[in-house]
Amino acid sequence: MASYDLIVVGGGLIGLSTAYNAVSPYGGHPVLDGEKVLVLEQDAFFNQRGSTAGASRQFRFQYSEEYMTQLVMAAVPEWAMLQKQTVTELIPNVGCLWFGDPDTPTTEGGIKPAMETMTRLGVPFQRLNCRELEEWYGFRNLPGNYSGFFQPGGGIINVPATLQAMFNIAHNHGVHLKAHHKVLKIESDGKEVTVITDQGTYHGKKLVLTTGAYANTLLEPLGVQINLSIWNMVSAYFRKTRADIDYPTWFAFQKANAANANLYYGFPEADWSHPGYIRVAPDYPYQIIDEPSQRVPPTPEDFAGTSAWVANHMSGLSPEPDFTSSCMVALPAGDQQFILDTLPGYPNIVLFTTGWAAKLVPLLGKICVQLALTGQTAYPIAPFAIPPSDITATGERK
Ligand code: BEZ
Repeated sequence: MASYDLIVVGGGLIGLSTAYNAVSPYGGHPVLDGEKVLVLEQDAFFNQRGSTAGASRQFRFQYSEEYMTQLVMAAVPEWAMLQKQTVTELIPNVGCLWFGDPDTPTTEGGIKPAMETMTRLGVPFQRLNCRELEEWYGFRNLPGNYSGFFQPGGGIINVPATLQAMFNIAHNHGVHLKAHHKVLKIESDGKEVTVITDQGTYHGKKLVLTTGAYANTLLEPLGVQINLSIWNMVSAYFRKTRADIDYPTWFAFQKANAANANLYYGFPEADWSHPGYIRVAPDYPYQIIDEPSQRVPPTPEDFAGTSAWVANHMSGLSPEPDFTSSCMVALPAGDQQFILDTLPGYPNIVLFTTGWAAKLVPLLGKICVQLALTGQTAYPIAPFAIPPSDITATGERK
């Protein structure tokens, strides 16, 4: 009967980062023999059906919360370590532009508090007025009160290359990477774990759960139910009509309108995903669901707000998208950025779930391994604790 030192459930960005970190010699934890590490993914690796879907994510330092900016700073050397082990550039450094109504707070924070955090922590940025936003960055027809900043350290995360790099390192170290293994149930006596899948049963000493939107079914018997909402999001690719135009990563903060939250973000042209096109997306869902089986595909109307934004405010792009995609993102219902904690009563089970976490990927995998193998981490993860209200009657915080 196979028994592992570490089992990871979920083979997306954080799951693969956990496997990669488990076999890496600089993690501040015992280095595991890859043969004793198992990753179980219910779908194919690199699938487009969960939170890891899509080609790019925003890399940014600016946050309203100081502890988030500090975590991104702590993630920089972890990204550098991963980058040394792969050829493709993982985060092309194009900078990050935040602009819009300076008084609009959103799910991604706000322009003013982000500038305050950067000032306190010494993160450089340049303030921009409306004219500069239009003349220097190619936006147009912006309301005159719009302002913002450019943060030169920001970038665009190459998601497929990041996944592939971590997968390859784990594979080269002998990690067992099993696709199409759906976990049906997890049992634990607090010391060992038993993971029952539709392909067989596995035993391990430690378990890291990185199951995104799928977390709660598996957590139920373990006494935790994360209060999460699942956002189904769209994204669209607009053809460049002017070769000289390009954008950094950007986010437009605007007041909500009658139809939607009116928030948009985008990326530069990426040579790994629809070259010749620019990706623009709304930062509001087309569907909010309680569990993944309720997901429906987007309709053409779900792209209307994004097309209108591009037509009104972006230069050098064709007004209708030629390619579209969608992504399922589990978000914490409260104001936490994500959940990262051991399960109450199960010190050998670590949970990472929900949130926008791509910019922290190599660091979060490292923290998951530290927590699983040593029970502690020096990184400040208190803000990501499982809320007491998510611990059910059968769960017990020891
Ligand atoms: C983020 O950086 O966390 C983010 C950027 C754009 C949309 C949603 C989240």
